[in-house]
Amino acid sequence: MLKIAVLVSGDGSNLQAIIDSIENGYLNCSIEAVISDNIKSFALQRATKKGIPIYVFPKKEFGESIGDEILKVVKGNVDILVLAGFLSLLKGEILKKFEGKIINIHPSLIPLFCGKGMYGEKVHESVLKSGVKITGCTVHFVDEKVDGGAIILQKAVPVYFEDDVKTLKERVLEEEHKILPEALKLLSENKIFIKDGKVQIV
Ligand code: GRF
Repeated sequence: MLKIAVLVSGDGSNLQAIIDSIENGYLNCSIEAVISDNIKSFALQRATKKGIPIYVFPKKEFGESIGDEILKVVKGNVDILVLAGFLSLLKGEILKKFEGKIINIHPSLIPLFCGKGMYGEKVHESVLKSGVKITGCTVHFVDEKVDGGAIILQKAVPVYFEDDVKTLKERVLEEEHKILPEALKLLSENKIFIKDGKVQIV
């Protein structure tokens, strides 16, 4: 069984999608830890309700060393780290120790609307401002570049003229909640390989 840790900063709807996918038998995974950089993250309540161990390393206190603290928790206990709305950047040793074993969900079609400073609602604001008619979401591996690792899965979502951030975010989240569990399922079944910086699904 794939052992995962889920890193969160906010609402945790993606964490909930993983929990639901495990409970309904879609995913053969166990969530060993939910880790947050924000004590106010509602995701922590979702985890506590399910008896999942939680760890909090507040951003202000830990700053750039947060990756080292997380590594202490997950080393030897976890196969995959899932960044599900986690707003701190992981740096240093953890990226080496978990190379090819950290995935992130991003609310746009990478390489569009991503990179430094492009997170949360800012992504949807930029999408709406640009006038594009299609956006979406991406699950990708994490490396030292922000939103730069190999792309695992993407799903396109239409953008309507009448959309605001709330309606667009909801439509994108609906797809996020499908492709994040799907990516974990593929990983748990050893169906994902990285070749020349690209993901091959077998
Ligand atoms: C999602 O849109 C995710 O793509 C982005 O942050 C948001 C987190 O939402 N990285 P939630 O906390 O899972 O509800």
